[in-house]
Amino acid sequence: MVDVVLGLQWGDEGKGKIADFLTPRYDVVARFQGGPNAGHSLEMNGKKHVLNTLPSGVFHKGCINLIGNGVVIDPILLRAEIEKTIAAGADIKECLYISRKAHLILPTHRMWDAASESYKGEKKIGSTLRGISPTYQDKYGRYGIRVGDIQAANFKERYEEVKKKHLSQIKFYEYECDLDALEKEFFEAIEYLAQYKQVDSEYFINDLIKQGKKILAEGAQGSMLDIDFGTYPYVTSSNTVSGGACVGLGIAPKHINKVYGIFKAYCTRVGSGPFPSELDDDLGQYLRDKGHEYGATTGRPRRTGWLDLVALNYAIMLNGVDELIMMKADVLSGLPEVNVATGYKVKGETSAQLPHTYNEGEVVPQYTAYAGWQEDLTQITEFDKLPQTFSDYIKSVEAAISTPISIISVGPDRAQTILR
Ligand code: GDP
Ligand code: IMO
Ligand code: MG
Repeated sequence: MVDVVLGLQWGDEGKGKIADFLTPRYDVVARFQGGPNAGHSLEMNGKKHVLNTLPSGVFHKGCINLIGNGVVIDPILLRAEIEKTIAAGADIKECLYISRKAHLILPTHRMWDAASESYKGEKKIGSTLRGISPTYQDKYGRYGIRVGDIQAANFKERYEEVKKKHLSQIKFYEYECDLDALEKEFFEAIEYLAQYKQVDSEYFINDLIKQGKKILAEGAQGSMLDIDFGTYPYVTSSNTVSGGACVGLGIAPKHINKVYGIFKAYCTRVGSGPFPSELDDDLGQYLRDKGHEYGATTGRPRRTGWLDLVALNYAIMLNGVDELIMMKADVLSGLPEVNVATGYKVKGETSAQLPHTYNEGEVVPQYTAYAGWQEDLTQITEFDKLPQTFSDYIKSVEAAISTPISIISVGPDRAQTILR
């Protein structure tokens, strides 16, 4: 039995918090795509932890945490993350399993990412500069080096071959870089990672399924950043939707049970690209400040805007969402009115669908206004204790998207979570 938990917007919906919250119901938490572009925050007992490549079940004793084949791994960053997480009390030696088929992010992938972004200038994607796109390009171009290749006799030779190709690419972008220090760290990190369990993860996870274990597949990024369905080309380089869990772990579709879709009560986006309901004004800044909307990975300010039900409906359709989880409604407390985009006008025509392209000024969200709630939500633990205006808002959103909201998060801490 495999359930999937993923983000329905442009990432940073609160996947880390919810995956950690749900972990006691599962034996395994598995990441299936993305890499250290992700920043998943978990808060418990007054402490905040940020995970990038490690699955969000690492703080639960006895839980198996698998980095699946669909993930791209930067050994340098993973080593630092493991050391930090061990210092925070997690037993990574015991709980972590890494797929031999996961692709490696090489130092030159990072440089190529930076070179490509600087070459694009104004048209840059706003990538996290973690080498994600170059690594997936090599994977699909069939040049990639995988975790399981580290043991091969010709590993160093393969590395040099790929590096040579990367350096010519970087030269094309006229980008200057210093590789030596990073390369040394890379090879040290590879040796360090050898002490962690590297597995043929597709056999590993299917055995666990056969044994009746419960598995939670944890998405990274969000549906609007999906390589096929997001706001292309302003997307990431992997399939972030629920279908990605099958190929990113080697699980047949018939094993997927429930899909949990996470969304914020408003929207955020970090990096470039279309964002129809963006609030590029004082209210947007207010949401950024109150919601601490600064990237968990890069520290960049996140763009903010109203909840977009056209985009949310699309994501619910793509993922087959069974249950929704609403995050950060506490941030909206105190507003006289809360807007929700319930439709678009595209080139003057009313539309309930996302357009193929978003030309400047052509996509105009149509808003429905709801009465705001003034009460602080952060200490409320039961659904029945929520203010009437807020429960009315929840019910209206639910009706508009025909999907039940089963969990409501009212603060960053594990404990600030209301089950309906
Ligand atoms: P992820 O990438 O989806 O795991 O999300 P991030 O961790 O990047 O960003 C979510 C941010 O919101 C983190 O700082 C969380 O601690 C915080 N957060 C999560 N849920 C809530 C909530 O319900 N209310 C508030 N105020 N903050 C939350
Ligand atoms: P989590 O898992 C928010 C964005 C970047 C950029 C685009 C491409 O924490 O939700 P990339 O480095 O993947 O090539 O960048 O995608 N992006 C994210 N935005 N949350 C994330 O992860 C993201 N991962 C990538 O800002 O616009
Ligand atoms: Mg994040």
